[in-house]
Amino acid sequence: MASHTFRITQAFLFSERLSSTTGDRSSTMAIAVDACSPRDGPGLDSISDAVDTINVFKGRITSEKSSPDDPSIFDADKDKTAFRRYNEACDRVKAFYVEQHAKQTVAHNLAARERFYSPDRRRPEMTVWEAIEKLNELVDDSDPDTELSQIQHLLQCAEALRRDGKPRWMQLTGLIHDLGKLMLFLDGCCEGQWDVVGDTFPVGCRFDERCIYPETFAANPDSHHEVYGTRHGIYEPGCGMDNLIMSWGHDEYLYLVLKDQCTLPREALAMVRFHSFYPWHREGAYMDFMAEGDEKLLRAVQAFNPYDLYSKSDDPPKVEELKPYYLELIDEYFPRKVIRW
Ligand SMILES: [Fe+2]
Ligand SMILES: [Fe+2]
Repeated sequence: MASHTFRITQAFLFSERLSSTTGDRSSTMAIAVDACSPRDGPGLDSISDAVDTINVFKGRITSEKSSPDDPSIFDADKDKTAFRRYNEACDRVKAFYVEQHAKQTVAHNLAARERFYSPDRRRPEMTVWEAIEKLNELVDDSDPDTELSQIQHLLQCAEALRRDGKPRWMQLTGLIHDLGKLMLFLDGCCEGQWDVVGDTFPVGCRFDERCIYPETFAANPDSHHEVYGTRHGIYEPGCGMDNLIMSWGHDEYLYLVLKDQCTLPREALAMVRFHSFYPWHREGAYMDFMAEGDEKLLRAVQAFNPYDLYSKSDDPPKVEELKPYYLELIDEYFPRKVIRW
């Protein structure tokens, strides 16, 4: 297949080209819809927390290997064993990844992008703060346990960055990095939890052994595809991280929303787009796709990660007290107050 050696410039443009040449789109229709309601906010919140728990514990095991440019200070005296136990989360998380890894195919990805850009999709218009409140309200509604709500996680993450003296754009990135989870409540943006949360990875090339539960990719038809199943698949070594088609989820969705509606720097967009890409930023997989300049993005994503993972044990932030500070910060990087989601 000629696409083997494509040098792609824009993942979604490529996607459109690919789907029109392969006619592969029909196979997305065969993907079973998740039995879980896409709008199951609390359900999502809890699987998302369990996914984070696994990453917290895996991080403790592998922390010697990672060398973030600028180590976090805020979490130095934290008892990280206070996070819920790894094993408890394991069973649920494994079941989640069995489904995610089987269904995240190139075909699904192309269809999701097509839906995202479809002129028929009703794109709600909201300010960033309204989006934060919306996510919070929907997830908080029937949250039965004591886990922190989304707004608290976002504010804790931003506040930890602020306390460590990180730049204002990075604080804002902390505040908004999970807003992509709003896709759960927007028509046609996702099919279930499996294409909203969880670790991410590129599609269109061989799934790396360093992804979590790599054996579960055997159920993904792309694993056996003549091109997608090869090491570099539809990409070329050194093609650049921007050009990878990342698995569909809240990271990618928010990146697509933000990329032409804010003035945040490239590092911030990388933190949003790759914050769940643990196989890359923690495990060192997919490095051969990096191009010049991607090292800087990798360091940025690695520097951001502890604030996402470890700020959850901080005291609950006082939303109304913090709101004026963050409203001003949002205005600084969003020239149009109301953005299209
Ligand atoms: Fe996230
Ligand atoms: Fe997060």
